[in-house]
Amino acid sequence: MILKTEPLGSSLKGELQTPGDKSISHRALILGSLAAGQSRIDNLLESADVMATANACRQLGMSSVPDGESLLITGVGSNGLSAPADALDMGNSGTAMRLLAGVLAAQPFQSTLVGDHSLSRRPMRRIVHPLSLMGAHIETTEAGTPPLIIDGNPDLRGIQYSSPVASAQVKSCLLLAGLYAQGRTAVSEPRTSRDHTEKMLPSFGVPVGSDCSVSGGSRLIAADVRVPGDISSATFFLVAAAMIPGSSLVLHAVGLNQTRDGILKVLQAMGADLVIDNPRFFGQEPVGDIRIRFTRKMKGIELPEAWVPSLIDELPAIMALAAVSEGVTRIRGAEELRVKESDRIEVMARGLEALGVTLKEYPDGIDIEGGGVRGGSVDGAGDHRCAMSFCILGQLADAAVVVAGCENIDTSYPGFVHDLLAVGGNVSQVQADA
Ligand code: S3P
Repeated sequence: MILKTEPLGSSLKGELQTPGDKSISHRALILGSLAAGQSRIDNLLESADVMATANACRQLGMSSVPDGESLLITGVGSNGLSAPADALDMGNSGTAMRLLAGVLAAQPFQSTLVGDHSLSRRPMRRIVHPLSLMGAHIETTEAGTPPLIIDGNPDLRGIQYSSPVASAQVKSCLLLAGLYAQGRTAVSEPRTSRDHTEKMLPSFGVPVGSDCSVSGGSRLIAADVRVPGDISSATFFLVAAAMIPGSSLVLHAVGLNQTRDGILKVLQAMGADLVIDNPRFFGQEPVGDIRIRFTRKMKGIELPEAWVPSLIDELPAIMALAAVSEGVTRIRGAEELRVKESDRIEVMARGLEALGVTLKEYPDGIDIEGGGVRGGSVDGAGDHRCAMSFCILGQLADAAVVVAGCENIDTSYPGFVHDLLAVGGNVSQVQADA
């Protein structure tokens, strides 16, 4: 899908309900499927990635019915999953594949997890290696990529695993496998990644130790989950308001989990004017309404490496903001970006260059000289976050920006174009034969 933006010449104004958090939606579906009884999920994100998890859970025995704005899911109980008749298709979603692999490694049946072109190139040794230490039997390609062929082993052993990478997908995969293993499973990581799994497990009746550990044999009990708005989706509008003169936006019920809020620190460090109203909790997750308005041109910053895990998915949007800020923005310690849905450093660098931005790429980051962008053609490369970042940046270009490779925006934010138009943005779909 190709999208096109025209120079805006006005500002963005209004209020938006941020769509449900993708990470929390995956976890609510998986834990609800493993729990005995009926769980209610409010504000579940209805995106392609989350539907991949929902479909896989259904193939494993979970059933669900919509109830107004909520989804009621009937779980099968910790040991009630059934062997899937077919391969489980995880689509574009690394989270779906890595988290479900943890569960499936411990089941008394075989399963196969497949993904799309992008997911089929993503590294799986980061979970296969520690799961093997627990006694799991998983085959990948020689390159360590999907498909995953899992010969489930109900006799896994708990481990203390020190992960070389700060990854919530690795951590959550092992905690889920740990629910079935003998003894305790504990995971440590070089920097704390998002902690939604640790926060959600206790609501399903499973205590999590302060050393990020769970006990094998824990039984999950159905629970209700209210999913906060996704700060990663809100980011596109936060960045847009921070860069477009005259803008003023309110984003409602955004998740403000401390392991996810690095974008707010970056915006404040760059000079943005934002306020959190109405702070509250959805379960264990902090939530607030974010009011942001344009006051001045943003200033480039040296982004502290310690912040990277808390804004890993926001870096493409931060790169777009850097391109129209004053001075240089330096990003380092972000080598994980190279193994996301695309190589996000490469995709953003090529797109920004096409719009006239001066930059220097590094193996683990990028330096971007601010100044402004001209019109042109860029390629989102089928990566939802890069595609949306270019669409936001296009609002400020001096001529039209054509963004190819936008087809996967619906993996995380199906209403993105609608919401951008609703607050006064300029974006339209280019017909394939136009
Ligand atoms: C996610 C964790 C992050 C993030 C991804 C969602 C999750 O990946 O980039 O979009 O829900 O656990 P890593 O854990 O691999 O860093």
